[in-house]
Amino acid sequence: MGFEEKQAVIDYLDGGGWLTEFKKTREFEQKISEFIKSNYVSVVNNGTSSLVIALMALDIGIGDEVIVPDFTMIASSNAIVLAGAKPVLVDIDPTNLCLDLEKAEEAITPKTKAIMYVSINGRSHDMNNVLALAKKYNLFVIEDAAQALGSTFSGKSLGTFGDIGSISFSAPKIITTGQGGALFTDNSDLFRKIALIRDFGRPKSGVDYHEVIGFNAKFTDLQAVIGIEQMKKLPWRVQRKKEIYKIYFDCLSDVGSLIFINTNLKETSPWFIDVLVETKRAELISFLNERGIGSRVFYPSIHTQPPYSWVKGDFPKSDAVSQQGLWLPSSSFLSDDTVLFICNVIKDFFKN
Ligand SMILES: Cc1ncc(COP(=O)(O)O)c(C=O)c1O
Repeated sequence: MGFEEKQAVIDYLDGGGWLTEFKKTREFEQKISEFIKSNYVSVVNNGTSSLVIALMALDIGIGDEVIVPDFTMIASSNAIVLAGAKPVLVDIDPTNLCLDLEKAEEAITPKTKAIMYVSINGRSHDMNNVLALAKKYNLFVIEDAAQALGSTFSGKSLGTFGDIGSISFSAPKIITTGQGGALFTDNSDLFRKIALIRDFGRPKSGVDYHEVIGFNAKFTDLQAVIGIEQMKKLPWRVQRKKEIYKIYFDCLSDVGSLIFINTNLKETSPWFIDVLVETKRAELISFLNERGIGSRVFYPSIHTQPPYSWVKGDFPKSDAVSQQGLWLPSSSFLSDDTVLFICNVIKDFFKN
């Protein structure tokens, strides 16, 4: 957050701010729509409820199965459970850390209704292959693009390929409104259903007639004025994430124990700088920590988390990535010198 966001909040409050979702929220949606080129954008309170709403809008619930990768932020899979459906966890493709499409096909059953495709850290497959798989089995595609705002496939924004796409504006994301999420679709009927579900299921705010079961997942104009300012900064941040990734890559790609995941910086704006550390990950974390450098291990694979102890099967790729993965300092505000300093500390560690 900078001066611009602070000033926007002050101006909004001075202007008699409405606070809850109103004109500024619609303006924020318009800005997102222009950036990602989706016909319809609905902003909601976070990127978890957006996924639940996407599932509900597609009438996915009890008795239905949804394919989801075993390596993702747990909200992807939790959303399926919260919608009443069964997540079918599938191993990942180690080349991009996204869903293994062959394994996904093997996991499809007559109960499968959708694929939740997570473009982890802004990477994806050829999205035509994802769409072709879904089409072959008559499945919906929900894109969890929470980590992919600013990333594309073939120049088209991730999140705009599926029936519904979803992003998050939580605090660590490329731009933030504190909490927040958005749904994208090109289908006007789905857009209408999303609008109903996010507002208690009612077609008109303030009129207590309810067409469907819904949440209160509404945004606030107070956040929207921040989001509008953040959107102005998005192109710069997308570019900066790419520059920072390149500095890390150029400096560290020949360090024996580190593996960089194939990243096409023309399309991918890496949200976090992610590397696999083949040996001594815990020691590296301590070494960095002692020198004031934060880092964070990757998500544990979902099937290892207590609420998913019922899941059967082997997920070797997801397990390996979870055990080796490390996120390095990634803020857009890191200077080149700071990134180079971090790289040199990492090099020192492996020299010793
Ligand atoms: C892939 C993915 N899906 C969903 C979410 C949930 O978004 P939120 O934190 O806005 O609920 C996140 C958050 O980090 C995420 O990374």
